[in-house]
Amino acid sequence: MKKVFIETYGCQMNVYDTDIVKSVLGSNGYELTESTDDADIVLLNTCSVRENANRKVHNRIHNIRHQNKKRDDLKIGILGCMATNFRKQLLKDPKLPIDFIAGPDSYKRLPQLIEEVNGSVDTENNFDVTLSEFETYSDIYPSQTGGINAWIAVMRGCDNFCTFCVVPYTRGRERSRSPQNVVDEAKRLADKGYRQITLLGQNVNSYNHEGATFAELLDKVSEVSGIERIRFTSPHPKDFPRPLLKLISDNPKVCKQIHLPLQAGNTRVLEMMNRTYSKQEYLDLVDEIRELYPNMALSTDIIVGFPTESDAEFEETVEVMEKVEYDSAFIFKYSERPQTIAKRKFPDDVPEPVKTERIVRLNKIQKQHSYQKNLAHVGEVQEILLEQDTTKRSDQECQGRNDANKIVILPKGDYHKGQFVMAEITDASPHTLRGKVVEVLQK
Ligand code: 5AD
Ligand code: SF4
Repeated sequence: MKKVFIETYGCQMNVYDTDIVKSVLGSNGYELTESTDDADIVLLNTCSVRENANRKVHNRIHNIRHQNKKRDDLKIGILGCMATNFRKQLLKDPKLPIDFIAGPDSYKRLPQLIEEVNGSVDTENNFDVTLSEFETYSDIYPSQTGGINAWIAVMRGCDNFCTFCVVPYTRGRERSRSPQNVVDEAKRLADKGYRQITLLGQNVNSYNHEGATFAELLDKVSEVSGIERIRFTSPHPKDFPRPLLKLISDNPKVCKQIHLPLQAGNTRVLEMMNRTYSKQEYLDLVDEIRELYPNMALSTDIIVGFPTESDAEFEETVEVMEKVEYDSAFIFKYSERPQTIAKRKFPDDVPEPVKTERIVRLNKIQKQHSYQKNLAHVGEVQEILLEQDTTKRSDQECQGRNDANKIVILPKGDYHKGQFVMAEITDASPHTLRGKVVEVLQK
């Protein structure tokens, strides 16, 4: 039986895909291993959203080859978003130390690709980076080993073509799974003891299966008994469906938390990014959300140093952050990506030190906001889903998350992971809350 080691980079969609790959390989007679030492096949499920993700994978390949110098039989396969890049590099440099490549829509062909690998890279046969208009892996249940939180990909690909983003090129066109298929997967997960599900898609607002909308899908998933919490990521601010907003506010199983990627605060930059909303439209949406549900937790993604972004324009990102006061934010330096419209049209002209200055500034602001938001919870009694029976620091503590997805550390007691408790928040730091359990819930 061949042993496979698989390592995942990048986003939650890749983590999900790794479980699909495990399932495909498992049912074709492969065994998984936790170490490269006894692996016959190493798979790297890669990300190419920013250059540093790229670099990491290249370093890792050389490092694996170096550590296994004497093992000519060890095969390395590249999966995920870097597949197309690797294909091009492979055509230029047949000595690249990898053996095969499978893009995000080719995982069902992996067993065949692995069989075809025969020691040397045969650039004709050993890659499949074809993107499909239809593949949703709806017939494959990802291998999940048990736990509290599970993810379900409800759609794949993206048709938005934000000018900075490589995803439409690496993952292809948008396609949605049927609501029934998603509900079946949710039921199966509930039977295995999962309590929380996060529905995944590059842009869930575009979910459309024969007319069924994302709000309808979310509603159906919320009827699955055993699943007590549902989250989703990410919606696009340009066309946030109002019925979805209403459902989030009204449905007790849907967490009161929205990830709403801003990307930039200035309308000219947003236009160059092809985000199709203005600063004001974004702020109006936030107002509408807060009117409907004042305590909605909001998080975001921001890019600093997009081509031509001036100091004054960057200040508008600061202004939006100050107005919205996000609970958390992922802030990135602009990174030029192959194939993208931005790379073709706009030189990457914001100097690296300026990008650094901007990212440091935003991270500092965000840290303050996260801390203020967390401090405001002290004294509240919140419902916590327990996720771990110990914490990294102590086996006398356990941890879970509140509805807003914040980590809450609690003293150990007569409760365990998978259970819901009511806890009084007693202390806060920018990243975590602490509390004491006041009631164990029976659900
Ligand atoms: N440079 C920097 N950040 C990027 N992102 C996507 N593409 C790039 C890029 N070229 C960020 C966006 C997106 C998140 C997943 O990654 O903020 O929302
Ligand atoms: Fe990329 Fe924009 Fe699609 Fe998100 S919505 S995956 S940023 S193109």
